[in-house]
Amino acid sequence: MSERVLVTGGAGFIGSHTVDRLLEQGADVRVLDSLHRQVHPSGEAPPHLDPAAQLVVGDVRDLETVRAAVRGVDRVIHYAAETSVGQSMYQSDKHIDVNVRGTAILFRALREEGVAADRVVISSSRAVYGEGACRCARCGIVHPGPRSLQDLEAGVWSHRCPTCSQPLEPVPTPEDAPMLHGSVYGMTKAFQEQVGRAAAHQLDIPLVVLRYFNVYGPRQSLDNPYTGLVMTFALRLLGGKPLVLYEQGTPVRDFVHVHDVVAASVRALMGDAPTECTLNVGVGVGVRLTELAQELGHAFDRDVDLEPANRFRRGDIHAAIADLSRSRAAIGYEPRVTLDEGLRTIVPELESASASDRSEAVEHELRRHGVLRG
Ligand SMILES: NC(=O)c1ccc[n+]([C@@H]2O[C@H](COP(=O)([O-])OP(=O)(O)OC[C@H]3O[C@@H](n4cnc5c(N)ncnc54)[C@H](O)[C@@H]3O)[C@@H](O)[C@H]2O)c1
Ligand SMILES: [Zn+2]
Repeated sequence: MSERVLVTGGAGFIGSHTVDRLLEQGADVRVLDSLHRQVHPSGEAPPHLDPAAQLVVGDVRDLETVRAAVRGVDRVIHYAAETSVGQSMYQSDKHIDVNVRGTAILFRALREEGVAADRVVISSSRAVYGEGACRCARCGIVHPGPRSLQDLEAGVWSHRCPTCSQPLEPVPTPEDAPMLHGSVYGMTKAFQEQVGRAAAHQLDIPLVVLRYFNVYGPRQSLDNPYTGLVMTFALRLLGGKPLVLYEQGTPVRDFVHVHDVVAASVRALMGDAPTECTLNVGVGVGVRLTELAQELGHAFDRDVDLEPANRFRRGDIHAAIADLSRSRAAIGYEPRVTLDEGLRTIVPELESASASDRSEAVEHELRRHGVLRG
């Protein structure tokens, strides 16, 4: 008999690709998604959601809806979330409600329906680490907390050693690094993990927590101006506008293509990796924003106009790079898509899209709330 899988947030970016892969593997897929207006402005299921999946339109915070959605399922992958780091800084209630209470409700529904699921996977984030691991030439590996406003206002972007104040070099962060999140979004993801671990343990349900780094690829909402940097840059590039590089383009991110993310997620969900484990999903390579901008120019075959700026967002981190040792050992994860190949996969969709760049309106809003500075 085929496996019955519930994908919450399955109409979204990573969720819909996961649905495709699960259907290919012969699973019987149910999606629970509220069709959040910021992600799906029409309020309708997006064309990329395969109709072979059963769509339940509803909110993950609504116990009765979630009880009906978990009935009879074997496995659950939980994606439904509020996902904007910037917005989380001034709409913390909403992020806490959906990301933390929503997760608690999912487990309550599993309990009340008596669903002894074979596995639950939670999509967490590198945001739980905050600044992550760094190397100090004098002190070795350190984990600095959020950067001070004073340093940021003075244009000192790199981390400083908490012991000797020397500038630090970011290095790959392993899963046992401390959770020193600087944003409300990161806090909700950390709390979501903890709620999941406690509930899964109590219900004796095997749980895998995946910490995704910066995911990009086709289907990332073009209508949601708060989504990833890759889409924001790409829309500006196509609109003939300069690419504004916050913090003078010095931040470093680990950009992982959605195909790699889905491969890891489906392995974690359908396989029999050691349970109650927490795994990073990235590429393991740090890319500077300036480099990302140049690579996008190559992919779209356009000249890139760079605008380095002293702007920064409170709650943002400077660098994030995944240490993949544990995911390699636990689920045989190996990222396959290079940045160059990956960026080319978004070109056809963007060139035919009617979406326009709304980054200036977002900047205005973030500035109004005191999140964007400089
Ligand atoms: N994209 C990334 O770079 C990234 C990085 C780390 C973690 N994640 C996590 O991965 C998951 C999926 O992210 P994504 O990039 O695909 O986002 P997305 O916004 O494209 O998808 C999220 C989906 O969840 C749905 N949703 C939102 N609130 C809901 C609610 N209350 N009830 C039911 N459905 C709801 C939305 O309609 C949307 O279809 C999220 O949990 C996110 O925090 C994403
Ligand atoms: Zn030091």
